[in-house]
Amino acid sequence: MAFDVEKIRQDFPILHQTINNHPLVYLDNAATTQKPIQVIEAVAGFYKKKNANIHRGVHYLSNLSTDLYEQARRSVQHFINARHDYEIIFTRGTTESINLVAFTFAEAFISQGDEIIITEMDHHANIVPWQQIALSKGAKLKIVPITDDYQLDFDTYTRLFTEKTKIVALPHISNSLGTINPIKKFIDFAHKHDVPVLIDAAQSVQHEKIDVQDLDCEFLAFSGHKIYAETGIGVLYGKEEWLDKLPPYQFGGDMIENVTFEKTTFQKLPLKFEAGTTNYVGAISLKAAIDYLTGIGLEEIEKYEKSLLNYAIDQISQIDGITVYATREDNKTSVLSFNIHGAHNYDVGMILDQMGIAVRTGKHCTHPLMQRLKIPGTVRASFALYNTTDEIDRFIKAVKKAKQMLI
Ligand code: ALA
Repeated sequence: MAFDVEKIRQDFPILHQTINNHPLVYLDNAATTQKPIQVIEAVAGFYKKKNANIHRGVHYLSNLSTDLYEQARRSVQHFINARHDYEIIFTRGTTESINLVAFTFAEAFISQGDEIIITEMDHHANIVPWQQIALSKGAKLKIVPITDDYQLDFDTYTRLFTEKTKIVALPHISNSLGTINPIKKFIDFAHKHDVPVLIDAAQSVQHEKIDVQDLDCEFLAFSGHKIYAETGIGVLYGKEEWLDKLPPYQFGGDMIENVTFEKTTFQKLPLKFEAGTTNYVGAISLKAAIDYLTGIGLEEIEKYEKSLLNYAIDQISQIDGITVYATREDNKTSVLSFNIHGAHNYDVGMILDQMGIAVRTGKHCTHPLMQRLKIPGTVRASFALYNTTDEIDRFIKAVKKAKQMLI
């Protein structure tokens, strides 16, 4: 099926409005994506006719709701090609998925003097949990640096391993730069040392096909709201053997098998990690979003978004006095981070907003990366399947105007 962006745009009601008297150009998709009517209606339809708590009732609605929740789990399983549906744990988002692994893994496997490898381009969600574990356990964080062309430095990575290395955690795609990391190579190398790997896929599942069996990662985390579903739902994929080895993360209803005041036994996967009433409606919205994306085709989406990014980089590169963080290359997707020389990113963002253009400014939850680049932040335009070259033309015009006003 040919990629028809105008037809896709009709599915997103929020795009059809004016902001500050200009038609909205939404280029803040790495922060959160807008929702298609198919997701909005799946949620509204669920609340109108199907809602009841899951795994708890014998009545019709509870069974229906449970079935839809478990269908959502299978839909995620197929989407990322997990071997089993019980390897999919529903969480609140990428941050909670990473915290779940960090804290349970540390309890089981990390002791004083052990080492954890993360990277200089990680989001805080993949820095702070590991840093806090390192502090409380007396372990050490080892950091993979970036090269001057914004790539992870693989050679240095290979030299960070010792017999104390317990886990590697790294991003698939940088939220600040858009760099696509060659994670397969990183995972294969860690496996040579029998070290498990967690992949932060928050910025990748919406842009390219993920196959966890092919990647062979032990854990992978992503969020629903960045993939056109609701906020407050996320996924942790884990290999069965690893999830089985980890203790529960939170305790309460639904994750137990039997409770007495003396002792509690826990459920098997996946419920062992899903204490309390989960965001089951969020999971249903995630299934609707996955159906929507797979209906269009991830490969088509990837191709289209790459063409948008390359177009935007070509256009912005023609303006003098602009630094673009990362150049047009095959290993970059959907994020255009830049600065106008002599202007603060915040001021640029404010002027773009006055012209109806939504971008993110600042450090993008990557303080160490900004320290490495020696900048206070960037202006970040991030693209999604509903953006158009016409919108990019308006964005470029607005950047030129901002430059004129500020410099
Ligand atoms: N992690 C999100 C971003 O990069 C919020 O904007």
